[in-house]
Amino acid sequence: MLELRLDDEAATLALAAALAEVLEGGDVVGLEGGLGAGKTTFTRGAVYGLGVPEETAVTSPTFALLHQYQGRVPIGHADFYRLNEEIEIEELGLDELLENGAVLFVEWGRKFTEMADRTVLWVDLEIVSGDARRVRLTPRGVRGDAIITALRQRLSP
Ligand SMILES: Nc1ncnc2c1ncn2[C@@H]1O[C@H](COP(=O)(O)OP(=O)(O)O)[C@@H](O)[C@H]1O
Ligand SMILES: [Mg+2]
Repeated sequence: MLELRLDDEAATLALAAALAEVLEGGDVVGLEGGLGAGKTTFTRGAVYGLGVPEETAVTSPTFALLHQYQGRVPIGHADFYRLNEEIEIEELGLDELLENGAVLFVEWGRKFTEMADRTVLWVDLEIVSGDARRVRLTPRGVRGDAIITALRQRLSP
């Protein structure tokens, strides 16, 4: 587990961009935390870090449920907040995206076991006060451990 304090939005974007450098197609990253904690902001930083031009808007997929981008790999950004049935995930086509080598970011990903079981990294964000956030990065499985190891190397001076 890697726990960090993020003083402002720029710090969150920078951490997400560093993480993006070590992600590979097929990785599922789950994001948790209350409204306004920074799940969408973190994903925006990661999407840009994966090579999507920063003039591309990266907004919450709360209503569209899934946004897709093309960086150095395909990218999916989903939000399960409004989903009620596991079957709806199937309809989103996330399996196909992953088979096509996409990196997937899922807000509220713990809600459904199928996607939670495929998640290699949990990003738990918490509001400390004002712009300060606490983030906990928790790896799952061998792939998650490799991501954390590579990220630590990138973050160390
Ligand atoms: N350190 C920070 N990290 C992320 N967002 C921050 C931070 N400080 C302030 N913010 C603001 O908090 C809000 C986070 O919103 P958003 O990313 O949509 O959260 P969520 O998707 O978790 O609901 C944004 O308005 C963002 O500008
Ligand atoms: Mg959001």
